[in-house]
Amino acid sequence: MNIEAIRKDFPILDRKINGNKLVFFDNAATTQKPIQVINAISDYYKYYNSNIHRSVYTLGNESENIYYKSKEVVRKYINARNIEEIIYTSGTTESLNLISRMLENELSTDDEIIISSIEHHANFVPWQQLAKRKNLKLNILEADSDGFISLENLKNIISEKTKIVSLTYASNVLGIINPVKEISNILKDKNIYFIVDAAQAAPHLKIDVQEIKCDFLVFSGHKMCGPTGIGVLYGKKELLEKISPVKYGGGMIGIVEDYNSTWADIPNKFEAGTPLLAQASGLMAAIEYLNSIGIENIEQYTKLLTKYLIVELEKIDGIEIYGSKDINNRVSLVSFNLNGVHPHDIASFLDEKGICIRAGHQCTQPLLSRLNVYSVARISIYFYNTKEEIDLFIKTLREIKEFFANELF
Ligand SMILES: Cc1ncc(COP(=O)(O)O)c(C=O)c1O
Repeated sequence: MNIEAIRKDFPILDRKINGNKLVFFDNAATTQKPIQVINAISDYYKYYNSNIHRSVYTLGNESENIYYKSKEVVRKYINARNIEEIIYTSGTTESLNLISRMLENELSTDDEIIISSIEHHANFVPWQQLAKRKNLKLNILEADSDGFISLENLKNIISEKTKIVSLTYASNVLGIINPVKEISNILKDKNIYFIVDAAQAAPHLKIDVQEIKCDFLVFSGHKMCGPTGIGVLYGKKELLEKISPVKYGGGMIGIVEDYNSTWADIPNKFEAGTPLLAQASGLMAAIEYLNSIGIENIEQYTKLLTKYLIVELEKIDGIEIYGSKDINNRVSLVSFNLNGVHPHDIASFLDEKGICIRAGHQCTQPLLSRLNVYSVARISIYFYNTKEEIDLFIKTLREIKEFFANELF
């Protein structure tokens, strides 16, 4: 990987923040965009902009071709069987909300839902609210102190009543990677819908939905160099065909009569309204960009940086790192606290040096309450980051520690 050349693709990396070179370490929240993605969106509006479906003119056909080409690129990226299984949404959050609504009609009283204690609110609140609406039991699978769920514990809480298991592929706080294939094996033949939140996995890991054998898998374009406003809801064809739509309007119907309607085939049945056209073009460019670097290369490079980061962080007295430090089982983000310093103070101090990290509850309040903290600082790495940037971060963190030690005593 030629990092120097890669960095040139990202115009924002030339920016100065507070007089310093931008160091972007908030990639788990959203990644920066290469010029290829920016151009794809701009070119879409410059040369192809027109609505699709029933646009019986050349421009409309070109626009439609881009849309379906984009879906094919996504299909290949996650190894889905066909493009009918790819539904575009505004992001992971919308995908999970949609799935919870889609499955609502498939559930009956007494059914149970399983999520885990490390889920992002996006994979927590929709299920909690579904359980409330339908008066169902929500089982929360407790992770151990490293953040891992035990497959034995999972087996123990599954019952004949379990109808949904929705788990994250990789944690946005602990970084740990869940053994989704093993989990799927446990759930197999049990008539349980298995949903995988791949928001933090899709930017880093090779994803194969046929190998995982999940029923649904979701992720966001903006966390993998794509634009905001587009995400993916993958669903198994036979399920999508069976399940009723939950959003109504143009594009998703077959025939509309005064008092009745029929639905379009999948995936259109689940894509009401004007599709995400320019966004689809941007997402395609993003995935093509990642493919051109190679997802395995991205994983390997960011793993090395994360290993270095953890080693350097651990040299600082008073640092607590959350989650397993086993580099082979985590994506490239690290959440930590520095004894006696609020994460917001750490983030503000770093910002003065042009370094962006995230501080707060990271949309995982149930997990943070189990860690007995209200807030953590999180540094998250992507393939355009460098060892020198980590050195600067560590140096600044040491200054922060010094500064606050002098403040306190
Ligand atoms: C694991 C996980 N799930 C879901 C989400 C929600 O993603 P979005 O805000 O793009 O919908 C995030 C965002 O940080 C996440 O990290």
